[in-house]
Amino acid sequence: MPDIRWRAHVCIWAASNCARLDGDFAEFGVNTGVLSYMVQRVLGEEIAHKKFYLFDTFHGIPPETASTAEADHVRALNDTLYAQDVYEFTKAQFSDYPNVELVRGFLPATIQAITDRKLSYVSIDLNAASTEIAVISEIWEQLVGGAHIVLDDYGFGGHEDQNAAWNEYAARVGRRILALPTGQGLLIK
Ligand SMILES: C[S@@+](CC[C@H](N)C(=O)[O-])C[C@H]1O[C@@H](n2cnc3c(N)ncnc32)[C@H](O)[C@@H]1O
Repeated sequence: MPDIRWRAHVCIWAASNCARLDGDFAEFGVNTGVLSYMVQRVLGEEIAHKKFYLFDTFHGIPPETASTAEADHVRALNDTLYAQDVYEFTKAQFSDYPNVELVRGFLPATIQAITDRKLSYVSIDLNAASTEIAVISEIWEQLVGGAHIVLDDYGFGGHEDQNAAWNEYAARVGRRILALPTGQGLLIK
């Protein structure tokens, strides 16, 4: 298990900023919800008024969404970390938090569950550039001004496709991504 304390700190800081904005919270790419659980547990009452949507298949990455460069890594993850269905486990993890809702299924199609919601805090951690860009393209208009989008894999070696795709997207919407020493990226609308 990698040491994710600083990455969790970044997510908590971003979510705390967004608690004061209009709009709900969402994570795209949850697995067992380590990062979102830290956000929820630390901020507690501060974000109790926010719906916190957690999107995942809870059973791994659709292999056909991986680029050629991503394919080996995705296969390895699906065969190990994501080999088990973690939906029930993750649901139980968040059972103390009525504001949290798990949305199970293939992204980006499942976004239709929240197309009527505004969003402020968003964490994206899907390990597949094409799906990440499909997600942000779909939700961009739902993001309020000042919304924070934390990109978990942005600066990591082996995630060059995600890095390039996000830089291209940010340029298209007239923004710049902050590269953090944790490996994360931070995009602010
Ligand atoms: C790195 S894990 C997320 C880790 C999580 N952020 C945490 O805090 O531990 C990536 C997740 O993205 C999910 N995922 C990838 N592509 C997906 C897609 N097209 N639809 C739904 N879930 C997807 C996988 O099932 C996997 O659980």
